[in-house]
Amino acid sequence: MTDLNTEWMGLSLRTPLVVAASPLSDDLPMLEKLVAAGAGAVVMRSLFEEQIAAEQMAIHRHIDAWVDTNAEARSFLPDRNLFPVGMEPYLSHLKHLRARLDVPVLASLNGATPGGWTDLAQELESAGASAIELNLYDICTDPGMSGAEVEDWQLETVREVVNRVSVPVSVKLSPYYTSVPAFVRRLAAVGANGVVVFNRFYQPDVLLDSLDLDTKLHLSTSAELPLRLHALALLHGRVPVALAATGGIHSGHDAAKAILCGADVVQMASALLQSGPDAMSTILVELQGWLAANGYDSVNEARGIMSLENAPDPAAWERLNYMRMLQGWQSRPGRR
Ligand SMILES: Cc1cc2nc3c(=O)[nH]c(=O)nc-3n(C[C@H](O)[C@H](O)[C@H](O)COP(=O)(O)O)c2cc1C
Repeated sequence: MTDLNTEWMGLSLRTPLVVAASPLSDDLPMLEKLVAAGAGAVVMRSLFEEQIAAEQMAIHRHIDAWVDTNAEARSFLPDRNLFPVGMEPYLSHLKHLRARLDVPVLASLNGATPGGWTDLAQELESAGASAIELNLYDICTDPGMSGAEVEDWQLETVREVVNRVSVPVSVKLSPYYTSVPAFVRRLAAVGANGVVVFNRFYQPDVLLDSLDLDTKLHLSTSAELPLRLHALALLHGRVPVALAATGGIHSGHDAAKAILCGADVVQMASALLQSGPDAMSTILVELQGWLAANGYDSVNEARGIMSLENAPDPAAWERLNYMRMLQGWQSRPGRR
């Protein structure tokens, strides 16, 4: 049987299969089943910067007095009903999960600007978080703000979180940086222990009938995986951080591809929201089967063999491949 034991940011995992941040973390019986089916770690759903800042202000008793003197003020603040879990219930749920699950449990923070809200990282550590996942989901709408400024701002946020805890910190990224490898190197320099590639960028569609925006969340498919494979291949062995894949992992073969490109672990949400623990056990069996059939005694032996550094044809990951693909299309006989 292929050995699936995995080291991720100093955490020892029985398998490289991780439950991604999602409402799955609210449901302990579901998590117990997912762990029994092969999950090596669990990431809790996020607490959001806006939510934490609003709750912190309320705790300090400024907010209500201020809001009541200014009719407009309520519109600056996020609607509390938007957030299914408050800070205190989150912390006590984290303690509960740590007590009941025998795998690492990561807490998740979601925000991209430095500030007092990052203090919460310390409380998450005290409540037992095995690590902190910081999701830098950011939407840049200000044409006056350059990419460099946005990155500096984000790095400062990461630095604040890292400085508040001694547990590992991984950073969940969007794919939209001019140079993902260079940004990841800067993340490592401010103390990040890992990156998670990539956030799905939730883009509303336009509804022509109602002239409204369709903001429904659609679950992923495996079609989203190649964007992640490409980034993993570029990063593996070239940045001093652990690598996690998220987005489009729906089968053991998808997981194998991500690991071959360099992922230490793969995180899954959509597949598990759709099919629950059955998906986890199917993915585990298929991953283990593929590794065994291809002669790997352990998952560690397979990790990164298709990365830019190790692939038989590294140019296939680079610009050269783009030219080859375009030129190849034109020169193939019989194509219209
Ligand atoms: C319903 C739902 C809720 C999610 N909530 C969070 C969250 O709170 N924090 C976070 O970082 N990611 C969240 N995600 C993103 C997932 O963690 C994951 O990165 C993304 O869905 C891509 O993985 P998948 O293709 O396996 O779904 C959520 C995803 C879904 C579908």
